[in-house]
Amino acid sequence: MPVSLVTGANRGIGREVARQLAAEHGHAVLLTARDLGKAEDAAEALRKNGLGDGRVAPLQLDVTAPESVATAAEAVEREQSHLDALVNNAGVDYDTDQHVLTADVERAGRALDTNTLGPWRVAQAFLPLLREAAPGRVVNVSSGSGAWRSLGSGTPGYSLSKAALNALTVMMASALEDEGVLVNAVGPGWVRTDMGGEQANRSIPEGARSIVWGATLGPDGPTGGFFRDGEEIGW
Ligand SMILES: NC(=O)c1ccc[n+]([C@@H]2O[C@H](COP(=O)([O-])OP(=O)(O)OC[C@H]3O[C@@H](n4cnc5c(N)ncnc54)[C@H](OP(=O)(O)O)[C@@H]3O)[C@@H](O)[C@H]2O)c1
Repeated sequence: MPVSLVTGANRGIGREVARQLAAEHGHAVLLTARDLGKAEDAAEALRKNGLGDGRVAPLQLDVTAPESVATAAEAVEREQSHLDALVNNAGVDYDTDQHVLTADVERAGRALDTNTLGPWRVAQAFLPLLREAAPGRVVNVSSGSGAWRSLGSGTPGYSLSKAALNALTVMMASALEDEGVLVNAVGPGWVRTDMGGEQANRSIPEGARSIVWGATLGPDGPTGGFFRDGEEIGW
């Protein structure tokens, strides 16, 4: 059975990615959250909605805490021989109230810690299991806000963190190209979540589907690209 792990999966896009991977793609899903209770509640809710026991398992994982990442990786290594998909979904602080010239730089640093260094830490920790899959896939959940061509003065911490996540995607894809691990940045579009707000033009299932595409690529799938809805978009 394919195995996948989703960070920040207790709500929003991450939770729906976990549901779709389990319900529509037959994956055993490690539903992770920084708060174990929230991971357990989300996994329980999915189980009540018809996913059988064992298909969705809760796990504590705070992407900003190296010891939490290491403990989660050790726990998964004890149970699983491989990891088919790592979805780096956890994200914070769409800082529409900030401007690059006056932004709180320490606050931007916290966004980078979660949105950029978090995926980096988690990918490193789970690499041994990803290498055992055929193929292992890493999906870095990015954003049009991090596209080089769309950078401006607004949302400075968030945009910088996602532009850097895109750069990390290219670097990791290059490093893993010969080992068959596919690493891509995928944007969900503008989605009605706590982060995206009620005015967003996409539903959570629509946004999640864009991500799930990257988590279910075949061995000949692309690597080192930036995609939305399965279509390449410009950096
Ligand atoms: N919504 C959009 O329009 C949109 C557009 C482009 C890209 N994205 C990206 O899509 C991803 C999911 O966003 P969303 O809209 O679903 O946001 P959301 O509803 O705000 O959910 C964010 C998730 O990230 C988790 N998280 C935050 N910090 C964490 C940490 N240190 N460790 C582990 N989990 C952590 C949150 O957990 P808690 O409940 O504990 O806070 C929550 O589960 C993010 O990477 C976001 O940047 C969203």
